[in-house]
Amino acid sequence: MSNIGNYDERLKNFDWSISEKELGYKKGDVINIGWYCSDRICQMGKGNKMALIWEGLGGVEKKYTYNDVRLKSNTIGTFLRSLGIKNEDRVCLFMDKIPELYIGLLGILKIGAIAQPLFSAFGDDSLLVRLENAETSAIITQRKHLPKVRKIVEKMPFLKHIIIVDYDGKHPLRDKEVAFSMDEATPVEKFEIFPTKAESPSILHYTSGTTGQPKGVKHVHYSLISQYLTTKWVLDIQENDIYWCTADPGWVTGTSYGIIGAFSTGVTQCVLDSGFAAEAWYKFIEKNKVTMWYSAPTAIRSLMKAGDEIIKKYDLSSLRHLASVGEPLNAEAVVWSEKVFGKQFHDSYWQTETGSIMISNYPGMKIKPGSMGKPFPGITATIIDPETYEPIKEEGKVGLIAIKPGWPSMMRTYWNNEETYKNKFKNGWYLPGDRSTIDKDGYFWFIGRDDDIINTGGHLVSPFEVESALLEHEAVAESAVVSKPDDVNMEVVKAFVTLKPGFTASADLDLNIMNFIRKKLSPLAMPQEIEFIDTLPKTRSGKIMRRILHAKEWGEEIGDISSLEND
Ligand code: WT7
Repeated sequence: MSNIGNYDERLKNFDWSISEKELGYKKGDVINIGWYCSDRICQMGKGNKMALIWEGLGGVEKKYTYNDVRLKSNTIGTFLRSLGIKNEDRVCLFMDKIPELYIGLLGILKIGAIAQPLFSAFGDDSLLVRLENAETSAIITQRKHLPKVRKIVEKMPFLKHIIIVDYDGKHPLRDKEVAFSMDEATPVEKFEIFPTKAESPSILHYTSGTTGQPKGVKHVHYSLISQYLTTKWVLDIQENDIYWCTADPGWVTGTSYGIIGAFSTGVTQCVLDSGFAAEAWYKFIEKNKVTMWYSAPTAIRSLMKAGDEIIKKYDLSSLRHLASVGEPLNAEAVVWSEKVFGKQFHDSYWQTETGSIMISNYPGMKIKPGSMGKPFPGITATIIDPETYEPIKEEGKVGLIAIKPGWPSMMRTYWNNEETYKNKFKNGWYLPGDRSTIDKDGYFWFIGRDDDIINTGGHLVSPFEVESALLEHEAVAESAVVSKPDDVNMEVVKAFVTLKPGFTASADLDLNIMNFIRKKLSPLAMPQEIEFIDTLPKTRSGKIMRRILHAKEWGEEIGDISSLEND
């Protein structure tokens, strides 16, 4: 029996207090995610239950019970306090998917500070703009990422501490740097958790903006109410599950469902801290007897590509429930997963700003392959006309996805950018910036984004950020960045570049520019193709018309180009 039971019944008498009651929370109470994800589970008598089974490169394994998670998050919190870090200070986590990231986040929340997780493959430029925006007080990182931090440290007067979790004593530490070993530090039993309330800030996640720098999405401790219940009802987490969320906590899926949803339900979860490889993934499922698997379309398409033969080498019969998020899950992937695993991937739709799943396919509900499913109980979602902002009644017509504000895990603002936040609301609706249709049975079918943001393999990349970085390359005069189709990642980044006098296009220059972006921004933002052209299409007012370049890449009609400069 699934946790959600009958979807239609749940719709009838839904109230978020269902989640509050299960968590023993009453309006006005102290609510601290760090406590809910460790101390509470121990108080429920599950201190000895395994919380985290971690596997790193070369098969090294580390295991932590809920009692370990409780003590070690206390230890980290105590250490941060000893440095003078206090509630609402921003503390960045800049690490691979290591245990210190999972447990460190809880430690930060326990002292009431704001956790700012950043993807460890970010280059120094990507890191700098995000730390500057948040005026981050401390960064917790690993030796391997230290060079990137050192490169920009001079530009960050606000940054007071650089905490290294795996310092080996080999090279001298520099100013602001301090070593801290989570596993070697004396466990702290007595710890006073900061009494955060529902609206106290918890996590700051950065997401790409269309026209400006990345936006810091501010979440609060009350988000737990959404994250806990969606973990139970959508991911269907049950007492004896072994859960594997493949997302990196540098992104929202990895925190909402890889940390908060997982630990607050007291499940045993496993984490594989290495890059994608089909056989390694199957082996991991077999070894850990994974029952619930939350992954992403690009990974699923990569598994499809690796072929069905290798699947036969592994015993994957433990799998009970599969779900996916981050980008469109094509119908073929759903059909394929049923064929090879005997289970369909259940698509789910949401975003950094929503903090938890908004639209989804539920256990026991009929899946229409290719559809995102229906709104979570308690979520009022529809599609609206892009001009009038009124709900669309006609079946099959494309509209903007619109959600009634007010669910617990909704972002509270964009950090230092209230204006952009306000612009996300129209006519009483929150607009995530996506287009969809709704069929006669109420299922949502994703059409595309309503902006220029590129979704490559489930990661959002801003053309603006890539274009700005390209301009810093000595050879680049102008640039325009669009997406181009890709089998596995759906979209990849493509750059059109005009060169400065004295530079000529060559394969070497091509590689050189790609590497420049990879190092500055991240491997995700690196253009997979650079096309050198003489002039970029522009409007008479000089604005680059990305639309024309985009249409060319996708083989689409170019549309109205009456304002084109060189027509
Ligand atoms: C954007 C949000 C929330 C998880 C990680 C991404 C796209 C998300 C789906 C889906 C089609 C999807 C949307 C959304 N997206 N899920 N099931 N089908 N598109 O978080 O980085 O904030 O990206 O990803 O465009 O707005 P994010």
